[in-house]
Amino acid sequence: MLALIVAVAHNRVIGKDNTLIWHLPNDLKFFKEKTTGHVIIMGRKTFESLPFLLPNREHWVITRDKGFDAPEGVKIFHSPEAASEAARVLDAAYVIGGAQVYEAFLPYVDTMYITEVDHEFEGDAFFPEFSEEAFTIESVVDGVVDEKNTYPHRFVTYRRKASK
Ligand SMILES: NC(=O)c1ccc[n+]([C@@H]2O[C@H](COP(=O)([O-])OP(=O)(O)OC[C@H]3O[C@@H](n4cnc5c(N)ncnc54)[C@H](OP(=O)(O)O)[C@@H]3O)[C@@H](O)[C@H]2O)c1
Repeated sequence: MLALIVAVAHNRVIGKDNTLIWHLPNDLKFFKEKTTGHVIIMGRKTFESLPFLLPNREHWVITRDKGFDAPEGVKIFHSPEAASEAARVLDAAYVIGGAQVYEAFLPYVDTMYITEVDHEFEGDAFFPEFSEEAFTIESVVDGVVDEKNTYPHRFVTYRRKASK
C-alpha cells in the first residue's frame, strides 16, 4: 500500500523556506502513529529539512543527484517510478513530501491522509491540485482545538477508487 500523508493549509500552503509553518501537536501525533514502523519516502529538500532521522522508520530519498551522499540506512531512488515499484511489495509506505514529491507520486498513491488546517498561511510550497473524482472520502475526523492546537483542523482519508 502506497499512501501520502500531508498537512495542508486552507490556501494549499504546506511550507515556507523549507520548513513547516504551523505547530499542531495533534498532527505530529497522527503522523507518528501512521508512519512508525514503515518506509517514509521524501524529496531531497524535505530530507535535508529534518533535524534528525525519524526513529523506527526507513527513510527513502528521491534525488536526481547520482552522487548524493546519504547517511547509513537511508535508501536513494532517482525516480518516483523506481520508488513506487519498490514500495509495491510493502504493507505500507508513506510519501511524506514535499511539494515536488507529492506531485510526482500523486499518480501512484492508493491512499491520502490529508490534515486540512483551517487557516491561510504565507508560504512557498503548495500541495498540488488533484482530481477529487478519482478518490472516495473514507473518513473525516475533526481534530480537537485546545491551547496547544490553536487552528481548527480535520483528518481526512481519501481512498483511490478502483479503476473500471
Ligand atoms: N505540510 C506538510 O505536511 C509538509 C510535508 C513535507 C514537506 N513540507 C514542506 O515542503 C517544502 C519542500 O518541498 P519542495 O517541493 O521544495 O521539495 P521536496 O519535494 O522535498 O524535494 C525536492 C527535491 O526532490 C527531488 N525530486 C523531485 N522530483 C524528482 C523526480 N521526479 N525525480 C528525481 N528526483 C526528484 C529533487 O532533488 P535534487 O534537487 O537533489 O535532484 C528535488 O530538488 C518545505 O517547505 C517543507 O517544509 C510540508
